[in-house]
Amino acid sequence: MAAHPTPADKFSFGLWTIGYNGADPFGGPTRAPLDVVHGVEKLAELGAYGLTFHDDDLFAFGSTVAERQKQIDRLKQALADTGLIIPMVTTNLFSAPVFKDGGFTSNDRVVRRFAMRKAMRQLELGVELGAKTFVMWGGREGAEYDAAKDIRSALERYREAVNVFAQYVTDKGYDIRFAIEPKPNEPRGDILLPTVGHAMAFISTLEKPELFGVNPEVGHEQMAGLNFTSGIAQALYQGKLFHIDLNGQRGIKYDQDLVFGHGDIHNAFALVDLLENGGPNGGPVYDGPRHFDYKPSRTEDEVGVWDSAAANMRTYLLLKERAAAFRADPEVQEALANSRVAELAQPTLAAGETYDDLLADRSAFEDFDADAYFNGKGFGFVRLQQLATEHLLGAR
Ligand code: GCO
Ligand code: MN
Ligand code: MN
Repeated sequence: MAAHPTPADKFSFGLWTIGYNGADPFGGPTRAPLDVVHGVEKLAELGAYGLTFHDDDLFAFGSTVAERQKQIDRLKQALADTGLIIPMVTTNLFSAPVFKDGGFTSNDRVVRRFAMRKAMRQLELGVELGAKTFVMWGGREGAEYDAAKDIRSALERYREAVNVFAQYVTDKGYDIRFAIEPKPNEPRGDILLPTVGHAMAFISTLEKPELFGVNPEVGHEQMAGLNFTSGIAQALYQGKLFHIDLNGQRGIKYDQDLVFGHGDIHNAFALVDLLENGGPNGGPVYDGPRHFDYKPSRTEDEVGVWDSAAANMRTYLLLKERAAAFRADPEVQEALANSRVAELAQPTLAAGETYDDLLADRSAFEDFDADAYFNGKGFGFVRLQQLATEHLLGAR
């Protein structure tokens, strides 16, 4: 059975996750507000290493300078008392009425200027607290109606804002990078940069692309019907996995933010294998925070909040253990070889081979027996998946 989580596992939680009071569009809170000091103490006790937060999670929107400072000081004291760290911060550009048409991409220019100032203020606080990542989730950066938003101008304004931030941190010498978090919809009908692929393509247009990566969330890609683990593999391949939001989602519907693994457990198994082991052919692994962005269900009281926080970490560690057993199983190794998984890492042309050589190679085409693939030469992928399933179920 999996070990108790320790800070070496790098588990972190958003203050808005454990602090979620149960309010949804159909009903108000079912739980009392969570105090940040209590939250930090409980997370440390459960074995997490980090807390992350939006500005408005720690001090309410519109707080005075003194109220804001008081909360920052209380947080700093709790961090000093427990050893918890702040690996990431983010800014809330979606809750206050002023952001009803977005922050960096609101049609209203003065709102865009206010949003940039709010983000830069939180960036400063993040640097002060030692955060290495600034996440940008643009929940209100989008639209419901095609005629209402010029998407090309919106992308241009988003670009303008983040280029300014990149210049700012460079000029100041700050050791912090930006991670864009895609989401297809909710709260807007359609959100800009809806998937990992859109975000990575956008990043390649920026003035300092090296300062930008992605913060993909399990549920967000799954809301779009996409395979989360394969999106993560591409982000790793392109050196862009700066942060990750782990949770659970059951299919294409509203953003459920369930506990990690309480959704597509097969994909969660493949994800942990990828993050920890680099995938079937090795390759870069992920060494950043394992950040949980989930919501303790509205049905739960405070006991359920901490049970669910612990469940995220325990499921991750169990999957890590299961993935290691899967890799170590000789039958799995034999099935992987039979499925020729490693062969995909081999270049298709030989070293130094030119297209002329390929064209002259009769065995590649003229003498090649393509018919042998009818009624033969199966890949055995189903057997491999069944072995994965059996490891996942603890049957092997
Ligand atoms: C959501 C998002 C947010 C972001 C958070 C950090 O769907 O509500 O996942 O929880 O992760 O705003 O930027
Ligand atoms: Mn979400
Ligand atoms: Mn998220």
